[in-house]
Amino acid sequence: MRIGYVQFSPALCDLDETITRLEELLPEAAEADLVVLPELCNSGYNFASKEEASANAEAVEDSKFVSFLINKCREFGFRIVAGLNELDGDRLCNSAVLVGKDGVEGKYRKMHLFLREKEIFQPGDVGLPVFDCGPARIGILICFDWQFPEVWRILALKGADIICHPTNLVLPGLAQRAIPIHALINRVFVILGNRIGTEGELTFTGRSIISDPRGNVLSEAPAEEPYVGIVEIDPAAARDKNVTPLNHVLNDRRPEEYGLLTQDT
Ligand code: ACM
Repeated sequence: MRIGYVQFSPALCDLDETITRLEELLPEAAEADLVVLPELCNSGYNFASKEEASANAEAVEDSKFVSFLINKCREFGFRIVAGLNELDGDRLCNSAVLVGKDGVEGKYRKMHLFLREKEIFQPGDVGLPVFDCGPARIGILICFDWQFPEVWRILALKGADIICHPTNLVLPGLAQRAIPIHALINRVFVILGNRIGTEGELTFTGRSIISDPRGNVLSEAPAEEPYVGIVEIDPAAARDKNVTPLNHVLNDRRPEEYGLLTQDT
């Protein structure tokens, strides 16, 4: 299986320009089976107001961006995970969709909102789904979710082989350092698809990466340029959870001692 990411700069409040940029870059990912695009890819990130965010949100079933992605999946035969500014009735969600040639195969809504996102988006309410796409089982997290080890563990417990991680990272180097650790602790592949560029006071940090279940970085993008990274993997490597013949990262847990994790602080 070939997995990858397209690192680029979505255009703030200009979906047509974003689509033009992706038209140029997606052919470079033609060999991939699974491609991760950044967070909030259909709208950009740093909105002047909630009204502006709302004006650039789309319902999944009525989304020009999602239709574009489905057409690209038909053209190139890959699946895409992309961040979506999602309109759900009168609510906005910072979501990501898993799209294939036959349409939308899955959706996740970001649980842990960052900075002013808390004023714009509803926190995720669809749990932590895992989608079986044939060659691999796919889980999705979005950007600041990187800070919370609980959600990575839950996706591993649910059988995810690959965690797709669309991001708009602004704190230099933090998530990029954490991702190989989440990967090795949970013995999963992780594809972090970050963005580049500047919107107002925010500069996005690039350096998209792919990590294998041993914490090896298989691909790393530059900090400031558009970049398409693709690597070949065997998803079955994520199903070997034994650190030693006598130690299994999931079965050796002691959940009876972890009650504090599910209590409010
Ligand atoms: C972030 O969650 N977009 C940093």
